Amino acid sequence: MKKKPLKKLSVSLKSKSYEIYFGYDILENSNYILEKYIKDKSIIIVYDQILEKNLKFLSGSLSNITNNLESIGVKSGEKSKSLEMYSFLNEKIIEKGVDRKSILVAFGGGVIGDLVGFVASTMLRGIDFIQIPTTLLAQVDSSIGGKTGVNSIYGKNLIGSFHQPLAVLSDVNILKSLSKKELISGYAEIIKHALIKDKIFFKWLTGFGEDIIYGNDELRVEAIYKACNIKREIVQEDELENGPRALLNLGHTFGHAIESYVNYDGSLLHGEAVSVGIILAYKLALKIGSTSSREFDIVLNHFKKVGLPTSIKQLTDKIDNKNKLWQLMQNDKKFSNGKLSFIIPEKIGQVKIRNDISSEVVLSLLKEEIEK
Ligand SMILES: NC(=O)c1ccc[n+]([C@@H]2O[C@H](COP(=O)([O-])OP(=O)(O)OC[C@H]3O[C@@H](n4cnc5c(N)ncnc54)[C@H](O)[C@@H]3O)[C@@H](O)[C@H]2O)c1
Ligand SMILES: [Zn+2]
Repeated sequence: MKKKPLKKLSVSLKSKSYEIYFGYDILENSNYILEKYIKDKSIIIVYDQILEKNLKFLSGSLSNITNNLESIGVKSGEKSKSLEMYSFLNEKIIEKGVDRKSILVAFGGGVIGDLVGFVASTMLRGIDFIQIPTTLLAQVDSSIGGKTGVNSIYGKNLIGSFHQPLAVLSDVNILKSLSKKELISGYAEIIKHALIKDKIFFKWLTGFGEDIIYGNDELRVEAIYKACNIKREIVQEDELENGPRALLNLGHTFGHAIESYVNYDGSLLHGEAVSVGIILAYKLALKIGSTSSREFDIVLNHFKKVGLPTSIKQLTDKIDNKNKLWQLMQNDKKFSNGKLSFIIPEKIGQVKIRNDISSEVVLSLLKEEIEK
């Protein structure tokens, strides 16, 4: 093995415990890392077609530990997270040959991870899968925690399951081909984790944020590790999102409504919408007096410094009706028992779930944001 993975985290859950491996050159060395999980089992890699060139490193390495290796390419993009693709993949995998010990490998961003995890969760009533996330967003967020699924024509992620992976391999080398926009989008989820639970991590990010976005590998490994560690702690506490796991939705009630307003047309990325959503959650917190303008300024300055979007106007000119945006926020699945729940910042590194925010105060914020 050329280089060992630098770091490892163990996620211990009721349903399953698994390891996340972080580092460089992981694809080429995946046989060493995965040997204990997959030796001589039949493996089917489902990959994002954009990674065609990288696939040979992964399959070359895995072919050292199994003679039964297949791969299936999936078209890039959110459209592939559909029931049609779910159904196609199921049939394709059965056609290639699958048994209860077969393992699926999800090689791609969050779309592939969510899709393949869902296929694995129902294939022969549930088989194992391994996540090899290839976007920054997927490495720090979607590849851990076990939420899988596809989109419905009525909304995102409405059809799915909880199905934890067997292992996660996070290789920073693969991030080199991502666009700046994709990296910024992933960084938004990193900063989200810090703001939820870790003031010291936030402070560290204010020193190294730009280096992480623009490609310092060592710092990237560190940042991904730290973000995953926060998500790990929260998921361990509440695997099925009955309580504190909702904290991970900081910025997402606004963010999802922004994405939905533009019909997921690809003009803005999830992390960009979340970035603006976090700032709006702070503005809401200011309005209700739960945080201070000093704390908000520190956060806002960091967002601006690293190039994270901070207002709806900066993202798109398509959002011009506050009532429609409010309506979309209420369609979000976090609306239950007639009350919309918000994750409201208190201090840096501390947020709270609140179900007592009046529609008037939210609407007045949206009015200021959209009509300014
Ligand atoms: N399960 C969860 O807990 C969870 C959490 C957050 C987000 N998500 C889901 O994740 C998805 C978003 O994830 P994403 O941003 O990774 O999307 P994605 O998988 O669509 O990847 C983004 C883009 O990058 C391309 N790409 C992937 N790897 C690349 C690489 N190494 N180099 C160059 N291009 C590459 C893809 O083809 C795509 O065009 C959404 O569907 C969202 O709902 C799930
Ligand atoms: Zn998110």
